[in-house]
Amino acid sequence: MGLYISMIFLKQEYNIYMKNIYYASISLIIILFIDGCSKKSTPTNIYESDEYNSLTKKDIITGESIWATSCFRCHRYGTNGAIVSENKEYWDKAAQKGIDALFKSVWEGYKGENGVMPAKGFCNLCDEDEIRKSVFYMFHLAKKAQAAEEKRNKLKEKSANL
Ligand code: HEC
Repeated sequence: MGLYISMIFLKQEYNIYMKNIYYASISLIIILFIDGCSKKSTPTNIYESDEYNSLTKKDIITGESIWATSCFRCHRYGTNGAIVSENKEYWDKAAQKGIDALFKSVWEGYKGENGVMPAKGFCNLCDEDEIRKSVFYMFHLAKKAQAAEEKRNKLKEKSANL
């Protein structure tokens, strides 16, 4: 009889134990779910990305050749609302979007505040790899053009003081 009663108790305890595990796992799943939804992965700034920092000379030349035949039509002089490479504020801000979002903007086309960029930025024969490289080149060029602009401004200041 005693054994029978203790078995009932044990069974009850076991049930409570299992119930606790059940509730604990449900809450864990809910917590993980909410956490997963609220966490938007922040993209890596293009200038800090491994891909940008390990571009080879060949990658840059590929990017440049596409830039010089397609992208330059707008981005050289700011045609159709495109932004020129010298505009540091614009490109530094865009760099924060990360390569995946920027690639998507060029590959699919993009409507900004100043104008519309057509899909593939006029390079209709370009494949994904080439467009990706042209995007990296755009940022590479931006850095170079901005450094040159800074130099020019300093020279101007100097000659104005002569
Ligand atoms: C027909 C003109 C045109 C051509 C050609 C063009 N762009 Fe653009 N591009 C634009 C305009 C307009 C914007 C948006 C400006 C704004 O933010 O208002 C833009 C924006 C961008 C951006 C920023 C996108 C973003 O999400 O912030 C990148 C990067 C870019 N262009 C790269 C390229 C590359 C690389 C090429 C060549 C493959 C190219 N563009 C060719 C007009 C052009």
